[in-house]
Amino acid sequence: MANSQEILEVKNVFKVFGNAPKKAMDMLNRGATKEQVFAETGQNVGVFDASFSVKRGEIFVIMGLSGSGKSTLVRLLNRLIEPTAGSIQLKGQTITNLTDKDLLNVRRNDMSMVFQSFALMPHMSVIDNASFGLEISGVAKKTRHERAFEALKQVGLDSYAFSRPDQLSGGMQQRVGLARALANDPTILLMDEAFSALDPLIRYEMQGELIRLQKEQERTIVFISHDLDEAIRIGDRIAIMEGGRIVQIGTPDEIMNNPADDYVASFFKGVDMTKTIKARDIAQSEELAITPSHALPLDISNAENRFVYLLDENNKLVGVTPIANDSVNSLENLMSNRIKQHFTINGSTSLKESIPVVSESPYPVPVIDDKGSYQGTLSKEQVLATLANN
Ligand SMILES: Nc1ncnc2c1ncn2[C@@H]1O[C@H](COP(=O)(O)OP(=O)(O)O)[C@@H](O)[C@H]1O
Ligand SMILES: [Mg+2]
Repeated sequence: MANSQEILEVKNVFKVFGNAPKKAMDMLNRGATKEQVFAETGQNVGVFDASFSVKRGEIFVIMGLSGSGKSTLVRLLNRLIEPTAGSIQLKGQTITNLTDKDLLNVRRNDMSMVFQSFALMPHMSVIDNASFGLEISGVAKKTRHERAFEALKQVGLDSYAFSRPDQLSGGMQQRVGLARALANDPTILLMDEAFSALDPLIRYEMQGELIRLQKEQERTIVFISHDLDEAIRIGDRIAIMEGGRIVQIGTPDEIMNNPADDYVASFFKGVDMTKTIKARDIAQSEELAITPSHALPLDISNAENRFVYLLDENNKLVGVTPIANDSVNSLENLMSNRIKQHFTINGSTSLKESIPVVSESPYPVPVIDDKGSYQGTLSKEQVLATLANN
């Protein structure tokens, strides 16, 4: 593998539907388009030369219009659909040449799939539905119930373990579908339009749930969507498909700022940039962010900012202190003069949600990651400059 961070590697994968895939492949290799292949051979090119890799712990969104090949692509990953050409590797293991038996093991242990329709068994309890995958894998009842119960807890449904699916709302049923996928503790979760059938509010809630699961458990997720807002909200990176091809891969920001073609650009028309830019993307490093090893007293004569950001030796933010011109800025003084409750912004907060905090704060707001590590500061000037540029 090129990089141990990359757990899924897809290289030059094709899927031709029809009875003469070789003929179609020959044409494609000679540069024919999907349309030409169809016109001449009647073969339908579902996926056309797809290459990408997915990193551990990332949500990789595949987006595109209906018919662009998203479902085909995600089913090629676990070979629910056999690729016509190309290779797929998961954790360095080549999926594309596994025997049926080994493939079954990969599907059971490494790749769980969540579909748009919940596909729950109406006559089975919630916990039996959630442990269904484990049952097929031959896991004993006690163990599979324990693991399914744990998974139901993760999606907030443990108290419904012995209900029937029809006693649950649509959103709750999809949570059961998610719990069933999580119960396997898969290396990678494949989700095909899993939230598309849900009401907007429930859908939004489920997206939040997925982001939380990713953060807390470092889940790796390939998520199919045709909805841009959803893709931007949950995607660390997005692959955009058109007519079976991946036309662009990047972070939401990268794609928006530099769309590969008009098709991609048309997706992003009218998108509110302030929702997609994250605080960490525009945080600036601050010369008065000081660690315990910093030389003191500080030379503040040229400092534009009248505040000091105190970091510990692990780069964790420990406080913000206004600089008083007439007092000695020893570490002790800086520590004891800290603002009691200072503002912070999490790096993954959108610019839109950061604006009220920045407006209210008398100093550039320190931006921190989930572990409290300092990532820079966000000032009113920087917010205005970003808004002006977009
Ligand atoms: N089993 C199949 N047989 C023939 N053509 C198919 C089959 N499944 C999908 N296709 C075709 O492949 C293309 C991509 O379909 P699909 O992957 O379902 O798109 P999406 O999920 O983006 O809506 C479409 O042209 C579709 O008609
Ligand atoms: Mg689809």
